[in-house]
Amino acid sequence: MSSKSVIRSQQQHKVFIASSDESKICVVMVGLPARGKSLIAGKAMRYLAWVGIPARVFNVGSYRRHNTPQPQATFFDPHNAEGERMRRAAAEAAMSDMLAWFQAGKGVVAILDATNSTKERRKWIHEQCTAADIETLFVESICDDEDLIMNNIREVKTTSPDYKGQDPELAALDFRNRIVNYEKVYETIDDGEKQYTYVKLINVGSTVIINQIKDYLSSRLVYYIQNLHIKPRSIWLSRHGESEYNLTGRIGGDSNISERGEAYARALPELLRKSGIPENTKIVIWTSTLRRTIQSARHLKAETGFEKLEWKALDELDSGVCDGLTYEEIAEKYPEDFAARDEDKYNYRYRGGESYRDVVIRLEPIIMELERSENVIIVTHQAVLRCIYSYFMNVPQEKSPWMEVPLHTLIKLTPRAYGTEEQRFKAGISAVSTWRGKGSSAKHQDFPADEQVQK
Ligand code: ATP
Ligand code: F6P
Repeated sequence: MSSKSVIRSQQQHKVFIASSDESKICVVMVGLPARGKSLIAGKAMRYLAWVGIPARVFNVGSYRRHNTPQPQATFFDPHNAEGERMRRAAAEAAMSDMLAWFQAGKGVVAILDATNSTKERRKWIHEQCTAADIETLFVESICDDEDLIMNNIREVKTTSPDYKGQDPELAALDFRNRIVNYEKVYETIDDGEKQYTYVKLINVGSTVIINQIKDYLSSRLVYYIQNLHIKPRSIWLSRHGESEYNLTGRIGGDSNISERGEAYARALPELLRKSGIPENTKIVIWTSTLRRTIQSARHLKAETGFEKLEWKALDELDSGVCDGLTYEEIAEKYPEDFAARDEDKYNYRYRGGESYRDVVIRLEPIIMELERSENVIIVTHQAVLRCIYSYFMNVPQEKSPWMEVPLHTLIKLTPRAYGTEEQRFKAGISAVSTWRGKGSSAKHQDFPADEQVQK
C-alpha cells in the first residue's frame, strides 16, 4: 500500500464517521433555571467533538446579554411585556444563527440551550426545525431538590456575567426570584407532546423517561446524557511504569516493567495518597490486559485492597506490522508510512493495526462507563491515555496524538461545574521519555525525574 492509499483509506474512514447518521439533530434543552442545562449541553458537545461529530451550543442567554447584560428578576416576569419581547428576540436570533450554521454544513448536532419552558415555544422550535429538515431531541431536566438548586445557584449563578460585581447573597436571592417568575408559566413536557422525541431527566437522572428515539446518534446521545451525574469525584490517570520496551525504544509489545518501572509501581500507592483522597473514598483500579499495566498496579491493589478491573479496550494502540520496532526502524522499513503518520497522526492507521481514531472508537464504552462511575484510577498506555485525557480536557483531535504524557507521573482530574481541574504529581523516579516530535525518529532518551518536560 503506498502512503497515498494509506492516507486515503483513513479519510474514507473519517467520512464514514461524519455521515454514519445523516440526519441533522437539534438538541433542545428544556427546564427551569439552575437545572444543569448548560452543564449537560457543554458535556454533550465535548463528547460529540471527541467522537468526531461536529457540534455547537447556541446559548440563548448569551444572545439576550447583548441587549440586557445584567437584568433583574423582574425582567423575567411573564407580565413584563418589554422583557418578553427581548427574550423572544434573543431566541429568534439564536434560532436564525443555528439554522444558518446547519445550512452552511458546519455541523451535525446543534444544542439549543435555553429554558424553552412553554409548549408554545417548543412547538415553534419544532416547526422551524422540521421546515429545515432537522430532527429535534428535547432534553428536559427536572429537579425539585431545593437544597441542590440553592447549591447550584451559589456555585455557578452568583458568578455568572449577569451578576458580575454584585453581592453574592443578593445575587442568589435575585436568581431565586428569577426562577419564581419562570415557574409562573413553566409547562413540563407531557402526553400532549408525545409526537416529539424527548428524554426527561428527573433529579439528576434518578428517573429517566424516554420517548420516541428514532436514530442511532440520538440513542447514543440519550445514553450518554442519562449516565451523567454530579457527585464530587476524581479520575486519576497514569501510564504504566517504564517498561523494557520503553528502554530499548520499541513500540507496542507486551514486555515487563523495568527496575525503575517497578520502583514506580511501588511508589504509586503513596503518590495516590499524596494527591489527596477524601476520607472513606473507594477508588476502583482499571488497567489494560497487558503485563506492564497489571504489574504497575500490583502494589496499588495489594496495599489498598481496592477493586481492580482489566479492560481489553484499554490496551495500547495496535501498531500492526510495526509492533516491536523502534521509530528509527519504522522510518527505515516503511518510510512512506512513517511520513504519512506524521502528516496526519490522528487518522493514520498502522498496517494491520489501529489509528488514534480507531482507539477513540473502542474507548467510547470506557467513557460511558467513566461517566457512570465515581472515583477511578486508570493505569494504561501513552496513546490510550492521550485519548482519555483529550476527552476530559477537550483537546482537539489534531493535537491529541502529539501530547506529552510523561512516565512516572500521576494526573488527577476533578470535574467541576463547567470544566475539569487538572493536577500532576511526579513520583521523582527517572524514566526514558517516549515522546517523539514530528519528523524525528530519535531514540527514546533518558530523562532524570526532575527534568521531564511537560507539554
Ligand atoms: P440557566 O437556565 O440559568 O442557564 P441551567 O439549567 O443551564 O441554568 P447550569 O448553569 O447548567 O443550569 O447549572 C449548573 C449546576 O447545575 C451545577 O452546579 C451542576 O452541579 C448542577 N446540575 C447539573 N446537572 C443537573 C441536573 N440534572 N439537575 C440539577 N442540577 C444539575
Ligand atoms: O513508546 C510507548 C508507546 O506506548 C508504544 O507502545 C506506542 O506505540 C506509542 O507509545 C504510542 O505513541 P505514538 O502514537 O506517539 O507513537
